[in-house]
Amino acid sequence: MLRGFFILLSKVPWAQRVITRWGVARRAARRFVAGDTIADALQAALALNQAGMQVSLDPLGENTTHAEGAEAAAQEILTLLDSLHAHELRANVSIKLSQLGLALDENLCRQLLGKILARAGERGVFIRIDMEDASLTERTLEMFHWARQQSEGVGVVIQAYLYRSEADLMRLREVQGKVRLCKGAYREGADVAFPQKSAVNRNYDHLVKVLLESARAAGTPLLSADGRTPPLAAVATHDPARIAFAEAEMARQGLPKGSVEFQMLYGIRRDLQETLVRQGHAVRVYVPYGTHWYPYFMRRLAERPENVRFFLSNLFRK
Ligand code: FDA
Repeated sequence: MLRGFFILLSKVPWAQRVITRWGVARRAARRFVAGDTIADALQAALALNQAGMQVSLDPLGENTTHAEGAEAAAQEILTLLDSLHAHELRANVSIKLSQLGLALDENLCRQLLGKILARAGERGVFIRIDMEDASLTERTLEMFHWARQQSEGVGVVIQAYLYRSEADLMRLREVQGKVRLCKGAYREGADVAFPQKSAVNRNYDHLVKVLLESARAAGTPLLSADGRTPPLAAVATHDPARIAFAEAEMARQGLPKGSVEFQMLYGIRRDLQETLVRQGHAVRVYVPYGTHWYPYFMRRLAERPENVRFFLSNLFRK
């Protein structure tokens, strides 16, 4: 229930206006968000690189409601790509297509994505297309398949809570699409997604198996030497049982360390991130930055009741 409430809140404009004004909310969000600027993001990326981890930088933004907003978001991404080129960090970039206006005007979104892919190609930076709520799944995948024809340096995300995901993975296998597998962070109906956590976990393990088979079939390309291009399969979770399953599956399929990337979010389970690095695994941390942190922060609260309690106790202490 709490999860649903916070996800609902993430979409309510007046709640966003009120909550983002609170200094305490901004400070709490900083646990999950590197800062407001590209400079903050690059600093966080450098520290993570020094700790042996790769990074994916996320210029926060979603659900753009006008063309100017989509163009401004694209410009921010282009500037980030230029900055990454200048800093030679082991980092790539994650984007959301709704920030480029996917729900508003598909042609505009395609045009902006094309510009981003061209610049990313020049700068040698891989682009990951995040997956959003189920109203955008089909359009996001269509756009990914278009993007994959323009560039090899692009991947997408698949959510284990959706019933359709196995079929989507099989289609991605045909184009050797690079996939980040996550559980799914939005509130979806039982008509499209498994309502129970145990079923999501079971499907996650099943999809890990399918994805790793795709990686093996593709010849298990490893993480690139510059740390920017991930291998075909990325297992994105902080759930130790899912990670243990993926490790066992790598061993069963004869996939060496480095042929599958483990991905986690900035500010979550740093201990587990470090353990995986020590064990010789490829680890990438997703680092969001920017002033549009509100919906991202609400989704992180929704994932864990302890986060809400911590946030509320700080709120009432002020
Ligand atoms: P689960 O929720 O079962 O949590 C397992 C454990 O992780 C918890 O017991 C706790 O210890 C820790 N944990 C998880 N969330 C936490 C939190 N918010 N605060 C503190 N501890 C927490 N989703 C999506 O829909 N589209 C996308 O594109 C992406 N992209 C993405 C990239 C990366 C790198 C990651 C790791 C995740 C995503 N996600 C996502 C989010 C994903 O769908 C999911 O909501 C979160 O990862 C939480 O699920 P877990 O797999 O960690 O499991």
